[in-house]
Amino acid sequence: MASAPVRPKHATGPRRPPGSARIERAPGDPRRATPPGPARQKREITDGKKANSRRAGQILSEGLASVRVPDGIFFNPAMRLCRDLSSLWVGAQPTVKNALDAFCASGIRGLRYKLENGNVQSLTLLDADPAAAEAAKENIGLNKIEGGAARAVCSPVEVFLSSNFGFDLVEIDPFGTPAPFLPFALRSCASIKSLRLSLTATDTAVLCGAHAPACINQYNAKPLDNEFCHENALRILLGHLARAASQYDFSMHPQLCFSDRHYVKLLVELRKGAPEAVRSSKLAMKFVAYCPRCRYHSLGGFPPASCPLCDAKCDWAGPLWGGAWADLSTVKKIASLSKERPYGSGPELSSLLAVLHSELDAPGGNAPPLYYDLHELASAHKRRIPRVDDMLASLRSAGLFSSRTHFKDHSVRTDALLDEILQFMPKI
Ligand SMILES: C[S@@+](CC[C@H](N)C(=O)[O-])C[C@H]1O[C@@H](n2cnc3c(N)ncnc32)[C@H](O)[C@@H]1O
Ligand SMILES: [Zn+2]
Repeated sequence: MASAPVRPKHATGPRRPPGSARIERAPGDPRRATPPGPARQKREITDGKKANSRRAGQILSEGLASVRVPDGIFFNPAMRLCRDLSSLWVGAQPTVKNALDAFCASGIRGLRYKLENGNVQSLTLLDADPAAAEAAKENIGLNKIEGGAARAVCSPVEVFLSSNFGFDLVEIDPFGTPAPFLPFALRSCASIKSLRLSLTATDTAVLCGAHAPACINQYNAKPLDNEFCHENALRILLGHLARAASQYDFSMHPQLCFSDRHYVKLLVELRKGAPEAVRSSKLAMKFVAYCPRCRYHSLGGFPPASCPLCDAKCDWAGPLWGGAWADLSTVKKIASLSKERPYGSGPELSSLLAVLHSELDAPGGNAPPLYYDLHELASAHKRRIPRVDDMLASLRSAGLFSSRTHFKDHSVRTDALLDEILQFMPKI
């Protein structure tokens, strides 16, 4: 099991006043001199075990980057899969002129994006903590990134983005919710035609409905604490982002979003254009209806007050994103790129990509929203629990779409009606 992050949540927050000193590399710094050579590109240096048992200040290797992580600087080895997938996503994009890793800590994410992908031209590593910005600066040197292509800056992102504009890829990986930082990123990048945004949210308890009032405050959406809370969580975050982005005339195009352990990850493109932004904004105002008695669910306009199947009182979630949460062609590109990269999270990465592929590969590209947990259905309807593979085969043989979902084990994503599923679950 991965060790806990080294930096406690309460230790976060801006450390410097506005206009504070920035860490830039000194001209002539010898560490600038050597570009990554071909031998470097080939080596596989990820070593999860080493990372988990690290000592403070030890040099850690992940993907093509090596970083020194001084005591007190955040580094969570359990996020390697997330960083692997995010770096592949960066590699699947057209040229990135100006990337910002806005919560860089050691700089591991941004450095990996730059070192592993030939399409990233310049990189800014930013952190409000002077010690983190100093570590990021050292790590730029350690990785021998050529002159001018990377810099480390110490500033709260809110301050930095009020006078630095035009990044075309922004990484937002804070502690907890990314919501308060979105307006700063969107305003600073408002002139960009096609903006790539990579967001991590680790406040999954809030998004999944364990603290509904906090979710309403933070995301202006009511969550649902039920069997498909993780897809709901992702849709609530997407909805919030799409509504925020539309205020700057951006439409949102999710390329790859997923939920894993304690976090939700969004990798999206925002495209400039008012008419599309309206369409995207409308898609972000959908609702989920859920019957706690028979487990009926739907996603669409205003939720019905009572269940259309059993007449029990319906619960609901929203407003949230009603559109697709990933794009199959991006997932295919990422899967093909991943074959050339011997990442340490290999087996876990390929099985996640395979499930994502299966749940998106529906006729016409319209994967049905939400999923059914077979254990929940069995308990609600007093049925035997079928094996997931048997249920998938039965639904397919009836001509229906069905797949597993990366969101939850023992669950199926399908366009079948509840009655059609139940006919493959014999009564006890
Ligand atoms: C979760 S860590 C980032 C982890 C890093 N991206 C990685 O993959 O290892 C969050 C970082 O954000 C920094 N931070 C917190 N508030 C900030 C702010 N307002 N502006 C910039 N950095 C901030 C913290 O100092 C911390 O280093
Ligand atoms: Zn019902």
